[in-house]
Parts: sequence; C-alpha cells; structure tokens
Amino acid sequence: MSESRTIVSFRDVAFEVAGVRILEGVNLSVARGETLVLLGESGCGKTTTLKLINRLIEPTEGEVLVNGGSTMAVDAVELRRGIGYVLQEGGLFPHMTAAENVGLPLRLAGRDRALIEGRVAEMLELVGLDPERFAARFPHELSGGQRQRLGVARALVADPDLLLLDEPFGALDALTRAALQQEFARIVRELGKTVVFVTHDLHEAMLLGSRIALMDKGRVVFLGTPEEFAASPLPLARAYLETVAL
Ligand SMILES: Nc1ncnc2c1ncn2[C@@H]1O[C@H](COP(=O)(O)OP(=O)(O)OP(=O)(O)O)[C@@H](O)[C@H]1O
Ligand SMILES: [Mg+2]
Repeated sequence: MSESRTIVSFRDVAFEVAGVRILEGVNLSVARGETLVLLGESGCGKTTTLKLINRLIEPTEGEVLVNGGSTMAVDAVELRRGIGYVLQEGGLFPHMTAAENVGLPLRLAGRDRALIEGRVAEMLELVGLDPERFAARFPHELSGGQRQRLGVARALVADPDLLLLDEPFGALDALTRAALQQEFARIVRELGKTVVFVTHDLHEAMLLGSRIALMDKGRVVFLGTPEEFAASPLPLARAYLETVAL
C-alpha cells in the first residue's frame, strides 16, 4: 500500500488517562475508499481509537497520521473540517430541527443559506428521510432509527473524504438495523468515502468492513479481511464467530 493511498495510520500509539493505559501498541492503516471496522467488546478502546483520529484526544505515545501528516501538526478545527463524525450517543442538538442539525457543519463553515438548504435536502433524501416530512421536526419527534439517519446525514453534509462512525446503528431493532446497514453500504460505495466504523456486532462488521480490526483490552489483536477473520484461529475471533450463523 503506497503512502498516498493511506488516509489514516496509527504508529505505535498508546493512550493513557490518569496513569491508566487505555490503548497500547496500536498500529493500523486505512486506505482510501476502504471501510475499516473496529470490532470489540465494551470497554476495549474502540471509541478512544476513533477520537484519536479527529484529535478529540491526543496520543500519549506514538503518532496518528491523517492524509500523511501527524494530527498534532495541524490545527484541530481544520483537521475536523475534513472528517465527518457520528457520535455513539447520536449527538443531535435537541433544540434544533432535523434540517438545522444536518446543516450545522455548513453553518459553522460560513456557507450561504441557499446552498445549505439545498444540500440539507439532498442529504435527507440520501438517508431516506423525506425533507417535506422531516426537515422541520425536532429530534424528540423522530424515532431512534430516524435520529441515527440524521446523524449520518450530518456527517456527510460537508462532503468529507473521511467518515468516523461510532456504533451508528446501535440500539435498533434487527430489521431497521439491517435496512440502515444496506443503505449505508450503498451510500459509501456510491460516494467513495473512506470509513472507520465502530461496532461490537460481528454480523455488521462482516457486512460493512473491507477489513476488520479486532480489539481486546486496548490492543489490536487481529487485522484482516472478513474472510481472514472467519478463518482466524484466534480464540476471541472464534468466540465472535460462534455468536452468529453466517
Ligand atoms: N476519559 C477517560 N477517563 C478514564 N477512563 C476512560 C476515559 N475514556 C475512556 N476510559 C476507559 O477506557 C476504556 C475504553 O473506553 P472506550 O470508550 O474506548 O471503549 P469502547 O470500546 O468504545 O466501549 P463501548 O463498546 O462500551 O462503547 C474503558 O475502560 C473506559 O472506561
Ligand atoms: Mg464506545
């Protein structure tokens, strides 16, 4: 893999809070157009890994590179402008309508109103929310799945090359989740985005990932394609595989 095709890389990254090691010896790379899935149990360090990419937190040791440069060498706000982020908790503002939530990154970037309106409508359509019906609604007037769609729409609105998604389809019923996964896979394919996707669901990881990074207690213990994962002799990988009928 040549450097120019590498969008994100972790080089011997450790992260520590109050003397406690949360990540240790993490090495990863994400190629342009790839969906890398971070898979692992609750508390293994998935969200922490994601936050290091857009510098919501900073590595204690090692380096995180985005587009070939250390995240520490650029302005954090500038860095985040090129990265769409869907928070684990959704992160919608309750006092803003659906359209205002989705348009927020563009308003912060000082884009003009007409452009924002058009772009927001386009994004709502893209994630399957009819703008006529949904644009003026507040988050509490939407279902959980519709809120998660809004989160994805907001992450895409400024057309970033890189998307970070933290369990964006968690807490949904199986059918809604499957529908959203399919739609998301289509959107990513069509738009050619580079994605880092966090989940603890193996089925989702296999469906969406071009590669899977399996994490355990702050370390990446496996990195490979879904096919390689399915053939891995690693006990943790086997334990995951036993949870699903593939
Ligand atoms: N600011 C912090 N201070 C202290 N400990 C933290 C902090 N942030 C995270 N941790 C701890 O680091 C570990 C990894 O947290 P992280 O949020 O990355 O897990 P996760 O894999 O995303 O889990 P989940 O699937 O439950 O979201 C956890 O044990 C968590 O309690
Ligand atoms: Mg998490």
